[in-house]
Amino acid sequence: MDVKKLFDLSGRVAIISGGATGLGRQMAEGLAEMGANLVLCARKKERCLAAAEELQKHGGQVLALGCDVKVPSSIHEVVDAAAKKFGRIDILINNAGTSWGAPAETMTLDQWNKVMISQRRGKIINIASVAGLRGSSPTLSAIGYSSSKGGVIIFTKDLACKWGVHNIQVNAIAPGWFPTDMSDKVIERNREVLLAGIPLGRFGGPDDLKGAAVFLGSDASDFVTGHTLVVDGGQSA
Ligand SMILES: NC(=O)c1ccc[n+]([C@@H]2O[C@H](COP(=O)([O-])OP(=O)(O)OC[C@H]3O[C@@H](n4cnc5c(N)ncnc54)[C@H](OP(=O)(O)O)[C@@H]3O)[C@@H](O)[C@H]2O)c1
Repeated sequence: MDVKKLFDLSGRVAIISGGATGLGRQMAEGLAEMGANLVLCARKKERCLAAAEELQKHGGQVLALGCDVKVPSSIHEVVDAAAKKFGRIDILINNAGTSWGAPAETMTLDQWNKVMISQRRGKIINIASVAGLRGSSPTLSAIGYSSSKGGVIIFTKDLACKWGVHNIQVNAIAPGWFPTDMSDKVIERNREVLLAGIPLGRFGGPDDLKGAAVFLGSDASDFVTGHTLVVDGGQSA
């Protein structure tokens, strides 16, 4: 297949939890630019609606929904609404997370996956962190967060082993430092120390995650599963 076609997401449907802000928003934009229809869900529905309005400019349809990923019935509602509107779910980005210093949310995956299993194809992208790859400096007290992100990485590997049989690729992205609502305060307080630990000498920018999300969401990654793609400017090298 032509390589541009491999990355093309025209007509695909992607659910992105926490897709209205920060890294979720950036990945949503990347998928929209490649032609995907989107479902954005987060607790603050109004932010999803505002993001949807902007993302629709790329030509795809965008559904904005209120959702708390800690509540299974809320996930059911998102799946039902997505299936009703689009009739399929191709890509799921588990991006929603809580603030630094607390464990990230874990998603109840069953509901999403039922749809993907019946399609016999699907892409799950879990948002981990470089914090889940190794220990951090004593000045960063985030052991709960790091442990949960380490959990996301092994969860990704194990689910990839289990669900290859359904032709569902399960991968993770481990971002380094990106300024967002979640990380701004920590970055502000530790800017110089953090930068000194990043070989590329800068924090992640507004386009730096797009390629990783498009790759792992598209046919270009059909033989990649159980992988954690690190996007950190070399921080963990
Ligand atoms: N920024 C970084 O440097 C960095 C580095 C590595 C990994 N990460 C990971 O990247 C992901 C996104 O974080 P971010 O930096 O982009 O932070 P962010 O801008 O604060 O985004 C987090 C998003 O998750 C949503 N959310 C939180 N709890 C939720 C819940 N229970 N149900 C539904 N949605 C929920 C929030 O929306 P509502 O408040 O409206 O629900 C928000 O849109 C997280 O998993 C984070 O751990 C970030």
